Amino acid sequence: MASTQRRRVGLMTAGGDCPGLNAVIRAVVKSGIYQHDFEMIGIEDGFLGLIQNRMHVMSTDEVSNILTVGGTILGSSNKADPENHAVLENGRWVRRDVTEDVLAHCRQWNLDALIVIGGDGTMCGANHLIGRGLKIVGVPKTIDNDLEGTEVTFGHDTAVTIATEALDRVHTTASSHHRVMVVEIMGRYAGWLALRAGLASGSDVILIPEIPFDLDVVARMCQKRSTRGKRFTIIAAGEGAAPRGGDMVVDHRDEGSPDPIRLGGVAKLVAGEIEKRTGLESRSIVLGHVQRGGTPSPYDRILATTLAHHAVDLLAAGRFGELVVVRDGKISSLPIASIAGKVRKVPLDDPMIRAARGVDTCFGDT
Ligand code: F6P
Repeated sequence: MASTQRRRVGLMTAGGDCPGLNAVIRAVVKSGIYQHDFEMIGIEDGFLGLIQNRMHVMSTDEVSNILTVGGTILGSSNKADPENHAVLENGRWVRRDVTEDVLAHCRQWNLDALIVIGGDGTMCGANHLIGRGLKIVGVPKTIDNDLEGTEVTFGHDTAVTIATEALDRVHTTASSHHRVMVVEIMGRYAGWLALRAGLASGSDVILIPEIPFDLDVVARMCQKRSTRGKRFTIIAAGEGAAPRGGDMVVDHRDEGSPDPIRLGGVAKLVAGEIEKRTGLESRSIVLGHVQRGGTPSPYDRILATTLAHHAVDLLAAGRFGELVVVRDGKISSLPIASIAGKVRKVPLDDPMIRAARGVDTCFGDT
C-alpha cells in the first residue's frame, strides 16, 4: 500500500454488534490522532464497507460522547466475507472471492494499516487479508466470550448483566405462579453467557452446549424442587445447548452469512418436554438481541478502552498480524493466525461449573 505523510489507519467493527464497540472506536481514534498523528479512516459496516468502498475520514469530534452508547457508529455486518462473499444473483446466493476489490479499495484510500474489531468470524477474514499483504491489528469483541486466545472479550460483561437481570425478574413471576421458567440465552456454540448469568442469578438448572442434557434429569430436578416445597424452577438455557444424542435447535438459516446457522428454540423445547413429563406448568422466554443492546457496563468500557489503546500502540510499533488479548488478567497480544477459526468453549472442569454443582445446580447430566 502506498504511504502518505500522515499514516492512514482504517478502522472497522465487524460481525454481530455488542456493547463497548463505540468505546473502542473512541479510544482508537483519539489515541491514533492525539498520540501518533495518524489519519483515521472509518470503514462502514465492517468488511462490507471494504468490499463496497464505503469509508470516511474520522475526526475526534465524531467520537465525542459515544463512550456510553451501545452499538457502533461505524455500523457492522455479519454477512460480509472478502474470500467467500455471498451475493444474491437471480434469487440465489452465490459465493464470490472479492479480495481483489478489497485490496484495490485499500490502495485507493492509501490505508497503511487496519484495526479490525471483531469476533471469530471476523478474525478469520482478517487472517485471510493478512495473507494477502494487509497490515492488521485485531481487537476481540463478542458477547459470547468465545474467542480463542483471550480470557475475556468486551461486550460479555454487559450481556451477562442483562441476562442476569432478566433471570432475576423471571424468578419473582415464576415463584408467584409456581411455574418452571426456561430462559434462552445467546452464546452460540459456547456456554459462557448462560453459565455466568445462570450462576449469578442462582438458576436451578443451567444448560450449556458443552454439557449435553437429559430431559428426564431436568424433569427430575423440577419435580424434586416441587416435592421439597419449592414450587418453581428457573432454567438458564444457552441457545446452543442440546439434548444428549440430539442436535442443537436451529431457528433458521441465513444463507447470506458466512455462518448461516441461527440457533433458537431450545427453551421452547425444554419447557414443552418438562410440562409433558412433570405436569408442572412451564413457560419459555427468549432474551435475544436485548442482550446485545444498550449502554456498556463500566467493566466493558474500561476493557474496550484499554484494548483499543494497546492495539494502537501495537500498530504504531509495526506489530502487525496481532490480536490484543487478556491473558492471566494482563493485556498482551498473539498472532491472529494462531486463533483464527477456533472457538473457546467452557472447560468441563471450569471453577464456575464446579461451584454451581456445589450449590446443587443441575446441568442436566446427572
Ligand atoms: O455472536 C453473537 C450472537 O449474538 C450470538 O450469540 C447469536 O447466536 C448470534 O450472534 C445471532 O446472530 P444475528 O444477529 O445474525 O441474529
